[in-house]
Amino acid sequence: MDHFQYRDRTLFCEDVPVPEIAAEFGTPVFVYSKATLVHHLKSIQDAFAEARPVIAYSVKTNGNLSICKLMAEYGSGFDVTSGGELYRALKAGGPNAKTVFAGVGKSEAEMRYGLQSNVMLFNVESEEELFELGRVAASMGRKAPVALRVNPDLPPKTHAKTDTSVKGVKFGLDIEGVLDVSAKAVGHPGLAIVGLHLHLGSPILKSEPYAAGAAKAVQLIEAFRKQGHDIRYLNMGGGFGIHYRKQEALPATAFAEVILPAVRATGCQLVLEPGRFIVGNAGVLVSRVLFNKDTGGKHYVIQDAAMNDLVRPTLYDSFHRVWPVNPAAGVPEYPDDFEAAIPGTVVQDVVGPVCESGDYLAKARHLPLMARGDLVAVFSAGAYGMSMSSNYNSRCRAAEVLVDGTSCRLIRRRELYEDLVAAEVDC
Ligand code: LLP
Repeated sequence: MDHFQYRDRTLFCEDVPVPEIAAEFGTPVFVYSKATLVHHLKSIQDAFAEARPVIAYSVKTNGNLSICKLMAEYGSGFDVTSGGELYRALKAGGPNAKTVFAGVGKSEAEMRYGLQSNVMLFNVESEEELFELGRVAASMGRKAPVALRVNPDLPPKTHAKTDTSVKGVKFGLDIEGVLDVSAKAVGHPGLAIVGLHLHLGSPILKSEPYAAGAAKAVQLIEAFRKQGHDIRYLNMGGGFGIHYRKQEALPATAFAEVILPAVRATGCQLVLEPGRFIVGNAGVLVSRVLFNKDTGGKHYVIQDAAMNDLVRPTLYDSFHRVWPVNPAAGVPEYPDDFEAAIPGTVVQDVVGPVCESGDYLAKARHLPLMARGDLVAVFSAGAYGMSMSSNYNSRCRAAEVLVDGTSCRLIRRRELYEDLVAAEVDC
């Protein structure tokens, strides 16, 4: 629950009652807790302190400038995966020397932008990309600092759509062929191969994949060094899981335990790219009930948040805990187990107004019956919520609010109808 707690049957974010936020800023609204964000960043910094790692907050997870600024203020760099994310990182005052530029398809313009911005590393994912980056850098009289991203070919470990280290996915260079590629880059005027990058997938609830990845990394680094590459960085990516259904995530120390030996063995500077671990449980999506409806033997509660605000359930069948902001007497204030039959509840689907049968935030959940106007909290919505939101059905994107103790601040205003058409021209 982090800094979201019920007090006298009202959900609070830190010391602010959530109904007050909904009254002031409307719904749907993403509400973030600063203390939770900082706590999770610090827990990674502390767990890996021995390695003095570069923590590169993964901007794709939640790129709001206020959140990025907070990350920079507390010592984080950035993992960016597009020119747009690099723009956000720079605007947030991100230290360029701690910014890594990832992504399987960087355009020439993005490569130039990264080079001009003096990013710390380009994570490179294919042979063609490597030599194109070398060409672009050389044409600017530069040597691009490169970490080769390798697909270590591990067993499946998370949802198929977000598992990035099984054979055949589009990510990284195949572990079998990577040494042939790195051999061709020896002495290239535009390339300095200085690192190895792995990102195993997301979210990962076990430490074993990191142990397996780290072991392969140690061997690869040795082999790159034999070829003459001065490997100084080991980037183990992101992917640390969080509590979605229940208390199920590992502490950062469990990942440190299996990653730090590889750092000691190689003497490399460690880079990590966490996103979800920092911001996932630091945010809730708050919506209001519009209508109830019974059909086909099912009960639907229709509220004003939808798949355009939080697409994870639709896209990955993800489970987010859902509960009223003001649970009535007769049901638990906050259930121990959201998947068990909860006394005082009715099985229902929580859906939004979007014109798709796949528009749902929760399916077949034990929830108390709620009335029009009641507020609903969707927990663990801080990661890949707003950043994957869309204007589908011409719905305005939600507002975002950051709470700090007893105060709260609007960090993104709700979109207006004019915003929906602002980029459209010649009409
Ligand atoms: N580094 C790289 C290269 C990545 O591709 C990602 C996430 C991260 C770091 C951050 O991973 P994290 O620490 O947040 O797990 N939209 C999906 C997740 C996609 C992850 C994409 N890459 C979801 O909502 O579950």
